[in-house]
Amino acid sequence: MCLHRELCTQGCQYSKKTEILKCGEAKSHAYALMKAVTSFLTFNFFFSIFFSLSLSLNVEAGHEAVLTCASTSKLCLVMVTWEIKSNTSCSLAYRNDRNETKLNCSERMMWKYSPDRDPALRIYPVNLSDEGNYTCEIASDMGNFHFSSSLSVIVPPTVTLTSDKSRVAVCQAAAGKPAAKISWIPASNNSSEEEFKHGNGTVTRVSYIGWVNSMHTTVTCLVTHPAMNQNLSLDLSGKKHHSVIACHHALFLLLFQ
Ligand SMILES: *[C@@H]1O[C@H](CO)[C@@H](O)[C@H](O)[C@H]1NC(C)=O
Ligand SMILES: *[C@@H]1O[C@H](CO)[C@@H](O)[C@H](O)[C@H]1NC(C)=O
Ligand SMILES: *[C@@H]1O[C@H](CO)[C@@H](O)[C@H](O)[C@H]1NC(C)=O
Ligand SMILES: *[C@@H]1O[C@H](CO)[C@@H](O)[C@H](O)[C@H]1NC(C)=O
Ligand SMILES: *[C@@H]1O[C@H](CO)[C@@H](O)[C@H](O)[C@H]1NC(C)=O
Ligand SMILES: *[C@@H]1O[C@H](CO)[C@@H](O)[C@H](O)[C@H]1NC(C)=O
Ligand SMILES: *[C@@H]1O[C@H](CO)[C@@H](O)[C@H](O)[C@H]1NC(C)=O
Ligand SMILES: *[C@@H]1O[C@H](CO)[C@@H](O)[C@H](O)[C@H]1NC(C)=O
Ligand SMILES: *[C@@H]1O[C@H](CO)[C@@H](O)[C@H](O)[C@H]1NC(C)=O
Repeated sequence: MCLHRELCTQGCQYSKKTEILKCGEAKSHAYALMKAVTSFLTFNFFFSIFFSLSLSLNVEAGHEAVLTCASTSKLCLVMVTWEIKSNTSCSLAYRNDRNETKLNCSERMMWKYSPDRDPALRIYPVNLSDEGNYTCEIASDMGNFHFSSSLSVIVPPTVTLTSDKSRVAVCQAAAGKPAAKISWIPASNNSSEEEFKHGNGTVTRVSYIGWVNSMHTTVTCLVTHPAMNQNLSLDLSGKKHHSVIACHHALFLLLFQ
């Protein structure tokens, strides 16, 4: 809504030639005063927004991302545009005079609210290809404003802990973004790590630990990641039990066949 409309002699009109909104002549001093007050308020608002947008946004794949711009409800809004530079380039634009949105972005991107009040951008569900830079541009009677933010998509890894016959435990954190950190309890100086980078930006890390001379009955693999922390334990004595039971079972079958 253009709240200043009633204060302008001609209201808010979109000029096709200059692509700029003309707000007519100010009706009275009241308008000039109100404009000065709102400029001051919006300046403070934009100032505070600036800091929140200087931080990049981290969102987990599959979740909802909301990229904030600024409130437009107190502006005589002409147009608001989101320019998106991710794996592909696209834009989402709203023209206030026509109450119309044009876009060539994915159908997963839309306004979170009504763009004439709050042109926040909603992405749902977020996927890896959405990572990139998002710029919101507001064209209004009080000038044009730009806000940039960057979106990082994080993906929790799939964690497994296994062991093999040569008494090596293998902890794998597959296809995480960023790469997960793997550590062990008890800590060992005899562990090694491998890393595989995938084309979609995710990373698989595999950590190996040998426990030939270990006195411990369990090993625990600790996986640390911005989207999740997970501890997996392997019972080393339990493994022996399993093989003993399996052995008895085989003997039983042999005897009674
Ligand atoms: C959207 O349009 C812009 C400019 O017209 C173009 O550069 C961009 O490639 C288009 N994006 C898609 C996803 O079609
Ligand atoms: C603008 O269009 C939307 C639907 O596209 C509608 O819900 C809304 O009421 C319209 N707003 C105005 C001010 O006409
Ligand atoms: C992301 O979503 C687009 C559709 O908007 C789809 O084409 C693409 O395959 C998806 N990418 C991933 C990595 O899931
Ligand atoms: C980026 O797009 C290319 C093709 O345009 C595709 O092969 C690639 O998987 C995409 N990357 C991501 C992270 O979605
Ligand atoms: C986003 O901006 C940063 C810094 O300005 C740049 O390094 C990066 O390549 C941009 N990303 C995309 C997808 O354009
Ligand atoms: C691990 O550290 C112990 C002492 O804490 C040392 O005796 C042993 O040689 C080290 N092993 C390796 C593989 O570095
Ligand atoms: C990324 O690529 C890896 C390896 O191809 C695949 O296992 C994983 O599922 C992909 N992750 C996403 C989120 O697309
Ligand atoms: C270290 O681990 C390797 C297997 O990764 C194993 O062969 C070796 O015996 C282990 N050394 C010690 C001191 O535990
Ligand atoms: C994993 O274990 C460590 C050390 O015992 C502990 O500090 C941490 O809280 C545990 N994390 C989870 C997710 O259980």
